[in-house]
Parts: sequence; structure tokens; C-alpha cells
Amino acid sequence: MLTSGGDCQSLNATMRGVAKTLYANVEDVTIFGFEEGYRGLIYGEYRKLQSSDFSGILTEGGTILGTSRQPFKLMRTPDENGLDKVEAMKSTYRKLRLDCLVMLGGNGSHKTANLLSEEGLNVVTLPKTIDNDLWGTDMTFGFQSAVNIATNAIDCIHTTAASHGRVFIVEVMGHKVGWLTLHAGIAGGADIILIPEIPYNINYVVDAINKRKKQGKRFTILAVAEGAISKEDAALSKKEFKEKRKDWKYPSISYEVGRQIQEKTGQEIRITVPGHMQRGGEPCPYDRVLSTRLGAAAAEMIINKEYGHMAGIRNGEIVKVPLSEVAGKLKTIDPDCSSIKEAKLVGICFGDEPLK
Ligand code: F6P
Repeated sequence: MLTSGGDCQSLNATMRGVAKTLYANVEDVTIFGFEEGYRGLIYGEYRKLQSSDFSGILTEGGTILGTSRQPFKLMRTPDENGLDKVEAMKSTYRKLRLDCLVMLGGNGSHKTANLLSEEGLNVVTLPKTIDNDLWGTDMTFGFQSAVNIATNAIDCIHTTAASHGRVFIVEVMGHKVGWLTLHAGIAGGADIILIPEIPYNINYVVDAINKRKKQGKRFTILAVAEGAISKEDAALSKKEFKEKRKDWKYPSISYEVGRQIQEKTGQEIRITVPGHMQRGGEPCPYDRVLSTRLGAAAAEMIINKEYGHMAGIRNGEIVKVPLSEVAGKLKTIDPDCSSIKEAKLVGICFGDEPLK
């Protein structure tokens, strides 16, 4: 078993779900935990886990195994000592005479899991990420816990924004997608939500702020995804965009948006970046339930020798998704989906169209 990539709140709860199911339904089970993700599998760093290792971890954030980022694009590149990482992983797997590798990870980690499956290893995976951007599952574990934290950040900002009559930007994680920002933004009552899937025009954003001011509202709250992008930048090629960002003087997109708003409205702006807090702390009850269900389902796949799949959830039911379908695909928000329509109906501005 290994946990790969950025951590999230419900990794331990998910491993517990897998382990408890195996211990309860298979007579002789040995579970090895690889340390720091694929790194442990590459370099043979692991420990034999006992049933007691999985006790008391349902509510614990982080991962008892540790994690690390091992980029997929470098998997075929030998390490500094010339070690072939893929062959090394296969060799550790064979040396330990494993029946199956259980991988808990996000997008990049699923590409490596698929590669190992294509290389002949038995692999079962679980969808981890606060970004909720994994293809093949409606929900990833970690997402709802992160929504709670990001929402709480917006809630806290609300009271101080109202007291001072300022424009506040809360920058939300999510990498290249806007799931976390959309959900926390709606839950926290943000007036403006900027997400990568809906490039913004800063003038429409400014109009929305000015309109609120005219209505006598003293403050405005923006939930801005870390991957938010202007219409202008979205029209650039990857190369042009990289070139433009070369001399960028901002730590993140919120600071550019903030500067433009200040310039165009003269209003006082403050920016809050909750950052990695969003991945920390205990899993929320929703995630504990999801993790337990997904973990049990993954263990069942192992028992039935149904390898090469990720356990996911669709319409409330647990599903088996082939790794080849998951690997390399991003689940983004459809700008025409009903959640966006409803958010617009209640008056949330996405910066993509003039005010009505
Ligand atoms: O994928 C999870 C995530 O938290 C993203 O939302 C964020 O962009 C990224 O990881 C941060 O990565 P790191 O922990 O390596 O800084």
C-alpha cells in the first residue's frame, strides 16, 4: 500500500477501510506500507504493517505512510545513480511476492499506476485529492474536508470585510480546476467566483463590485481559484503564456486581480491565502464515510482479483473504473453545468459576462 502526491485529510481513513475489510474477510493477510509514495516502492523502503497500525486513524489527517511527489514524466528517466525507476518498482513488488499494489493518489499518481498495470503488476487504486479533478468518480476523498476549511476561511473573512467595508479576495487551492473554489465560494456566500474553467474579464468583475457599492453594500468577497485566468491570458498559446509569466511580479493570481481592482475602483483590497491549511486537519464525516466505502470496495476488488481498476463513486454508488480510463484525464467543471447556472441565478458573478 502507498500514498502518493499531495496529502489530504482522508488518506488514513481510506487505508483503514481497505485493511479492515481484508483482515475481516481473508484468513492470512500481510500488508506492507511503502514509505513516501512511489519513492518507497522504487527504493525498497517499506514496513510490515499490523492490524493495530490501522486502529485509531479514522479521524487522523495526513498519512501514516508519508507521501512525496514523484512526477510521472520523470518515471522513465533514470535517477541520479542511473537507476531505472520502473524496473526498480517491479523488482520490489516481485521481491516481496505481492499479490497487489494498492495506490491512493491523484492525477499524476494514476498515470504511474496505469503504467505499472500495463507493465504487468496487479494494481488497485483509490481517488485522493482535495481538487476533485480525477476522471471517473463524482467525488474524491479529501475534497469535502477541504471545502469545509475553505468555506470556514470565507466565513471568517465575511465578518471582518463587513466591519471595514473592504473588498476581500480569498484564494482557494484546486490546481487547474475550480471545484473547490466553486463549492466553497457558494457555501461561503462569495459575491464573485473566479475559476479556471471560466476565464474572466476584469472589467466585468469591477462592474460587479461597483454595482454592489451603488446598492449600499459596503464589502465584496471574491473566491478566486489559484488557477483562475483572464480571458486575455486564456487566449494565449502555452508558450506565449509562459513567456508572459516569466517576468510576473505576483506570488499568485489573486495579487494581480487585487491590484487591477484597486486601480480600477480605488477600493481598499485585502487578500487571504489559506493555502495548505485546506489539506490539513481531520477528515469531515462525509469523507470518513466515502473513504470507508471506497476502501472496502477496493479490498473487495483485491479479494476477487479484479485488478487494474480505481474504486470511484457515481450517483452515490461505488463503481470500478479501468485505470486506462482514469489516467491522463482531468475532470473539469462544465461552464454550462447546472451548478454554475444556479450560482448565476442567485447573482454570483463569474467575470465572464456583463451584468444584467
Ligand atoms: O493537488 C492538491 C494541491 O493541494 C493543489 O490544490 C495545489 O495546487 C497543490 O496540491 C500544492 O502542491 P504542493 O503541496 O506541492 O505545494
